[in-house]
Amino acid sequence: MNAKDRVLIFDTTLRDGEQSPGCSMALQEKLEMGRQLARLGVDVIEAGFPISSRGDFESVHAIAEVVGNMKVSGLKPPIIAGLARAKEADIKRAAEAVKPAQRPRIHTFLATSPIHMERKLRMTPQQVLETVSTQVQFARSLVEDVEFSLEDGGRTEWPFMVEVVAAAVEAGAGTINIPDTVGYCQPEQFAGQIKYLFEHCPQARKAIISVHCHDDLGLAVANSLAAVREGARQVECTINGIGERAGNASLEEIVMNLVTRKDYFGCTTRVRTQELYPTSRLLTQVTGQRVQANKAVVGANAFAHEAGIHQDGMLKDKSTYEIMTPESVGWKGEGMVMGKHSGRHAFRTRLRELGFDLGGEQLDKAFTRFKEVADKKKDVFDDDLIALAAEALFKDSAQAWELSYLSATSGTSTLPTATVKMTCRNEEFVDAAMGDGPVDAAFRAIDRITGNPLAVHEYVLEAITEGQDAMGRVTITVSRQDSHSHRVKGRGVSTDVVLASAKAYVSALNALDQIEKNLGQEAPDAPLKSSTP
Ligand code: KIV
Ligand code: ZN
Repeated sequence: MNAKDRVLIFDTTLRDGEQSPGCSMALQEKLEMGRQLARLGVDVIEAGFPISSRGDFESVHAIAEVVGNMKVSGLKPPIIAGLARAKEADIKRAAEAVKPAQRPRIHTFLATSPIHMERKLRMTPQQVLETVSTQVQFARSLVEDVEFSLEDGGRTEWPFMVEVVAAAVEAGAGTINIPDTVGYCQPEQFAGQIKYLFEHCPQARKAIISVHCHDDLGLAVANSLAAVREGARQVECTINGIGERAGNASLEEIVMNLVTRKDYFGCTTRVRTQELYPTSRLLTQVTGQRVQANKAVVGANAFAHEAGIHQDGMLKDKSTYEIMTPESVGWKGEGMVMGKHSGRHAFRTRLRELGFDLGGEQLDKAFTRFKEVADKKKDVFDDDLIALAAEALFKDSAQAWELSYLSATSGTSTLPTATVKMTCRNEEFVDAAMGDGPVDAAFRAIDRITGNPLAVHEYVLEAITEGQDAMGRVTITVSRQDSHSHRVKGRGVSTDVVLASAKAYVSALNALDQIEKNLGQEAPDAPLKSSTP
């Protein structure tokens, strides 16, 4: 197998993935995901869309600095890409953001389908061709590595696609991406389009041809793999398949198809498949969005054999019903159950096995919380440990508001009341309030302390594991009460659901304060997030 048979894995979890509702991530969360993507061994990390907001710029810059210089097992650090429309201001901002990376990339795009050119861009095909040429050249004057995407490529007329690709390659793009932006293509048709490109555009052979498929009709993975069969050598995808609308092609499914059916595809990747499951779990913690149980590769039931006849076959020979092993994707089973007598070493070791490498202050915090939980709850399971690790990992030590005390009462003949103590920059505040229930009362007491009530848009309470003594995780989406305010998410975990709720409320409050602080310094011509493709 030669270098031409290597499929590059371009991860866009932090850009396209982050655009999906409920998946926005804070800087610290993006950094942690970025580190894990590097451990997973992806070739390219698209870290964000730097001109879209100051926050996006800062996270791309931080990822470029930290992850873009991170070597794992002697491999080169991943390429860090920043997205930019085919406009000078966007391209400059992206170049600045990815600069600290050892291998920076600008990923610029322009729509090429008749409907997008006429209705959205109001540009003629000739103007589009000229813009591609000028802007790719401009990007090349700033960085060596430029990728050009033909937005809505799946609905672009094939002869025009050939002209655009030729122009982009001649202008210096090393990677050409054909996205099925609206998830409209069918596998044979999409494969035919890539075949046509290679047959009619000699310049296509001088670049790496990439694909980026959306899952509106559930065909993102099938379309991407069909394109690989025709010579595409970069696939753009996301962990757990998150992304705009129905999502992107799922990275774990793409990779495990290439690995499991190497006989069919004849291609390799540099992904360490044992990191797939930990990466998926980390993303679930960060976004609070669970993966469906029957999801391929990383769903809770992906390796569960329920039917008697299957279990019988598995006992006789695993390969009767198992085409890949759970271990190969990093599924470590439920492992040992921990309890209050478990020590720090065992705690840290299990967290490492689960993909969380905590040290120093974060480990101390997580271990202290573990002991508190183990005192209240007989058995502490993997999912509990992961929730505690995520809590320690993503708690911003610089956050302004801290919840130091909560007492709540409720019952059939009591008015639900809560008393809350909070600290802010070493000052302590106490207040109490009544509410519809103890959670509402706690939120109102916090509002009285901050003097700036929040509007709650979504409140999700889930039990992390089974059993009556399970820890509860609350994910909450809030904004200020005016309609222009940003919406942010907060999370809290505890065996006491009122406390978990109050923690989530305070973490959202801190996130909102942080965003508002950054907002004052927004980039001058920053487009709204909604203008991202
Ligand atoms: O879906 C799309 O077309 C995109 C491009 C920017 C690659 O996300
Ligand atoms: Zn996309």
